Amino acid sequence: MNRTTPRSQWASRIGFVLAAAGSAIGLGNIWKFPYITGLNGGGAFVLVYLGCILLVGLPIMMAEFLIGRHGQKDAVGSFASLAGERSPWRMVGWMGVFTSFLLFSFYAVVAGWSFDYIVRSATGAFQGKSADEINAIFGQLVTSPVQVIFWQAVFIVATVGIVVGGVRGGIERWSKILMPLLFLLLLLLFVRGMTSPGARAGLEFMFRPDFSKLTPNALLDALGHSFFTLSLGAGTMITYGSYLDRKADLFTLSLRITILDTLVALLAGLAIFPVVFAAGLEPSSGPGLVFQTIPIVFSALPFGSFLAVLFFLLLAFAALSSSISMLEVSVAYLVDEKGWGRTLATSLMGFFAFVIGIPSALSFNKLAQFTPFFGRTFFDFVDKLVSSYLLPLGGLCVALYAGWFWKADAEKRELTGDGDRAWIYPLWHLLVRFIAPLAVVVILLNQAGLFG
Ligand code: PHE
Repeated sequence: MNRTTPRSQWASRIGFVLAAAGSAIGLGNIWKFPYITGLNGGGAFVLVYLGCILLVGLPIMMAEFLIGRHGQKDAVGSFASLAGERSPWRMVGWMGVFTSFLLFSFYAVVAGWSFDYIVRSATGAFQGKSADEINAIFGQLVTSPVQVIFWQAVFIVATVGIVVGGVRGGIERWSKILMPLLFLLLLLLFVRGMTSPGARAGLEFMFRPDFSKLTPNALLDALGHSFFTLSLGAGTMITYGSYLDRKADLFTLSLRITILDTLVALLAGLAIFPVVFAAGLEPSSGPGLVFQTIPIVFSALPFGSFLAVLFFLLLAFAALSSSISMLEVSVAYLVDEKGWGRTLATSLMGFFAFVIGIPSALSFNKLAQFTPFFGRTFFDFVDKLVSSYLLPLGGLCVALYAGWFWKADAEKRELTGDGDRAWIYPLWHLLVRFIAPLAVVVILLNQAGLFG
């Protein structure tokens, strides 16, 4: 796209909802949510997570859409057009560009594993194997730098291929194909989970709250994850919001996206935990939950290979529709602010993300012992930096801008348009002004170790 053509917009509201839900729904829902629920003891954690989504995540998502839609530019440009060309608020936009780029670089590594697992499942590599043998396959994959980097590259090329196509022809078109497929697959696996012998145990684990299991850390995990899963604090939703037309009702759209995201996380849990319990596995086995236990579980079932292929396809789709939104943040910046062509911007950023991602890919093999980053590998370090600090910090700045700095009447007009549903504004404003910033400050202080 060059500077003389008008700026792109989503072709339809449903296209926008699917693209934004595609951004939100990702490894966070299918890989991370089940394992952190497992680690934090189930039901009570799920309740707190739902509370955080509603009281902190949803209002901040609305704020990001508002900023982007009002600015009609990338994350940096939107802040510039709202707060002024020289305003320090543009830093929040730059931070978003940096955060989503960094996130993309290591996200692609884990997403690449799901590509590898599609191929392995399809060729029956897990069939008839013991649990130990299957675990060994995971170890074999991640300790092979060549394989990990190969799949990381394939994943990045796929992401670039979609983003090059632009907002309508790339992101929206592919989201409209990938998201419904994902729902279908997930529903199938959910039914499989609910008809498995572990269904009852799985349901109880997820929905019977045992508040004695609720540690302060579980509270903070829930809050932090609500940013990650809704793609907040990385400039993503500002960028996607900027392709919206002036009339779109941001409250209803945000609510739909949030509901879809939450539904997928819950369905993923309900697909995974019953099979975990039926097979007598530990729900708290950590980040390996998906890659190590799912093939074990499926290898013992009829049509196991087929179900495993479905599962990893689903994981790959979810990851892909999230990574395109990460890449789009820096591409939009280069196109809108620097006047670059989309193809050049996308290819170059994809290439850089690949290069910056290499130390992450090597963190499981060649560089596994190389831990100068506060005792962490490069992968663990960038993951921690993004998930625990940069995303909450970005979200906090957005909430502060929307809650304290934006002129109330302009903001109110942007949110409620011609005055429909005027009650939303004061409620939303209260949440972004006080509740959300307070909650975020508490997580950040905790992450910094201030509460021990
Ligand atoms: N929401 C995505 C997930 O759950 C991750 C993400 C975070 C995407 C921030 C974009 C921006 O996997």
